[in-house]
Amino acid sequence: MPLVKTASLIAPGRGVAAFNVITLEHAVAVISGAEAAGVPVICQISENAVAFHGGRLAPIAAATAAVAQASTARVALHLDHVMDLDLLHQAADHGFSSVMYDGSRHPYDKNLARTAEAVSWAHAHGLWLEAELGEVGGKDGAHAPGVRTDPAEARAFVEATGVDGLAVAVGNSHAMTDRSATLDHDLICRLRDALSVPLVLHGSSGVPDDELRRAVRSGMTKINIGTALNIAFTTAVRTHAPTHVDPRAYLAPARDAMAATVAHLQTVIAGA
Ligand code: G3H
Ligand code: ZN
Repeated sequence: MPLVKTASLIAPGRGVAAFNVITLEHAVAVISGAEAAGVPVICQISENAVAFHGGRLAPIAAATAAVAQASTARVALHLDHVMDLDLLHQAADHGFSSVMYDGSRHPYDKNLARTAEAVSWAHAHGLWLEAELGEVGGKDGAHAPGVRTDPAEARAFVEATGVDGLAVAVGNSHAMTDRSATLDHDLICRLRDALSVPLVLHGSSGVPDDELRRAVRSGMTKINIGTALNIAFTTAVRTHAPTHVDPRAYLAPARDAMAATVAHLQTVIAGA
């Protein structure tokens, strides 16, 4: 079916999973996993993934959109963790209905100013804009689970910038390869009560199922997952590649493993 808009999938009290797409195999796995689970999904392509594709957004975006259009699942495209404004400005031409401007590495005032500019551009082009406040660690492979977003500061940030969704730091971090994160649920509730926009949980691969369910019930809305797919992919490749030359012999099980991970997490998040 045609792509749907991210905004149509996001509603208070309901979780929607957003999976990182790096290769065509990721796109097929995410969308077939969503079909199997019978729930909508967000396919997100990060600035890092675009760099992997030689800085070209069009090929991986077009491939993901084509897979979505050939499926029965409701799929939205999201451009993720964008720091480069030139890339941000390409979103509207490639099927994306939402973007994340990531100014979290800047000091508060600069993050606020840059985010407000990104919001103006996004809204002028009909896009839903997510920002981040209180950097969710692990983007360089180092965990920083101690970082927390302050609710009062977040409220001021949302009011000053006009963002549509906010990524917040609540105890986990990116790129965790074990599911051992413990979230600050009291803080999630306080952020939910303080803010008028949906909350986004980044680094969700490290969060166990029960914690994910509780996070959605506490107010997390968009649940971002990347590393969990790469673990499934790489584990299958390590098992099958040593004895094969044809990449299909290991990419097919790798894709199936990612699809099974997607279907499971979709059930956890949508059924919370
Ligand atoms: O924006 C993407 C996510 O935050 C992915 O994080 O790879 O730790 O699941 P993760
Ligand atoms: Zn993230």
